[in-house]
Amino acid sequence: MDKTQLGGTGIYASPLMIGCWSFGGGQGSYWGVQEQSDVDALVGEALDIGVNFFDTAFGYNDGASEISLGKALAGRRGEAVICNKIQVQPREKLGSYRNMIEESLKRLGADAIDLMMIHWPVADAALLRANFEALLDVRERGLVREIGVSNFALGALALAKECGVAVAANEFAYSLMSRGIEREILPSCHESGIGVLAYMPLMQGVLAGKYASVGEVPPMRRRTVHFSGAGNPESKHGLPGADLEAESLLAGLREVSRDAGIPCGRLAVAWLLQKPGVASAIVGCRNAEQLVENAQAAQTRLPPDVALALDGISKPLMDKLGDHLDIWQPLESSRIW
Ligand SMILES: NC(=O)c1ccc[n+]([C@@H]2O[C@H](COP(=O)([O-])OP(=O)(O)OC[C@H]3O[C@@H](n4cnc5c(N)ncnc54)[C@H](OP(=O)(O)O)[C@@H]3O)[C@@H](O)[C@H]2O)c1
Repeated sequence: MDKTQLGGTGIYASPLMIGCWSFGGGQGSYWGVQEQSDVDALVGEALDIGVNFFDTAFGYNDGASEISLGKALAGRRGEAVICNKIQVQPREKLGSYRNMIEESLKRLGADAIDLMMIHWPVADAALLRANFEALLDVRERGLVREIGVSNFALGALALAKECGVAVAANEFAYSLMSRGIEREILPSCHESGIGVLAYMPLMQGVLAGKYASVGEVPPMRRRTVHFSGAGNPESKHGLPGADLEAESLLAGLREVSRDAGIPCGRLAVAWLLQKPGVASAIVGCRNAEQLVENAQAAQTRLPPDVALALDGISKPLMDKLGDHLDIWQPLESSRIW
């Protein structure tokens, strides 16, 4: 698979990025049990076919995702680009920031993290600034190669710039169901040379044609603002959702898929990757089979009429959700700025 340069950095990454949130998961974790043998097989296959970009986080299964990815990359670390994410640390922990990054490196079995991100911004600008200073320090020491952000809108991106951080990439929810980023953030990142890494491109399987209707989507995968919270104990947003628009999008997607002869999930990923400014789509893969299908998706070029049809069927949901960027929270408690 072809690689492209990420931002102005020396990183060359594939358009398919492997989401590692499920890696290392055990009984009771968000994604349930994830066998290491499946991770080994999918990571090996990914590298064999030229998919080199991996997305993990300190918080994914409390470090077990990093450990699992590290095991799967044993002997092939040099072929991979690792993106890792750390939450903003409180002031009292900033003194041990370097130590925290070193612990992560041990979990990953790596000597440096290629792309280190702040996972979510916080409202306290002074604290965010202090965290960027800590990141710049570990970068200076060679523990981190490039700095990125995740879930940062224009205000927080401007703050990063003020701190002297050259942001390489911004990870954001972006899919046929979550298009809020198109209004300002995507064009702005594109103009500034910040690669957008689109997360949840399949809406956790919903856009892969896994479910015949919204009602079939498991409660954990229905806790975003797209879906009504009523009767769903996993949902915390308390909003009415947009089930009708979501249902009609799914029906439209099935129709486009039938007409174009392209599977739903492939349409969803290929549509994203044709949007100017999107560097990679981060797809959570559970096994080698899904990886291979998602790699096909990332290499599919949609004819213009198909891309336009997808723009059309997803517009009513986009209009209904309006400025919703934080897909888990009501607007008034959005963490994104
Ligand atoms: N920065 C952030 O705040 C943030 C937030 C969320 C996610 N992320 C990142 O983005 C990644 C992707 O998000 P996600 O995993 O939540 O959602 P996703 O990529 O939209 O969906 C992943 C799920 O879709 C299903 N799937 C994948 N490939 C498939 C295929 N070819 N055919 C059928 N089903 C397929 C699998 O479901 P089954 O398990 O049912 O097989 C898989 O678990 C995460 O792993 C994480 O790295 C970042």
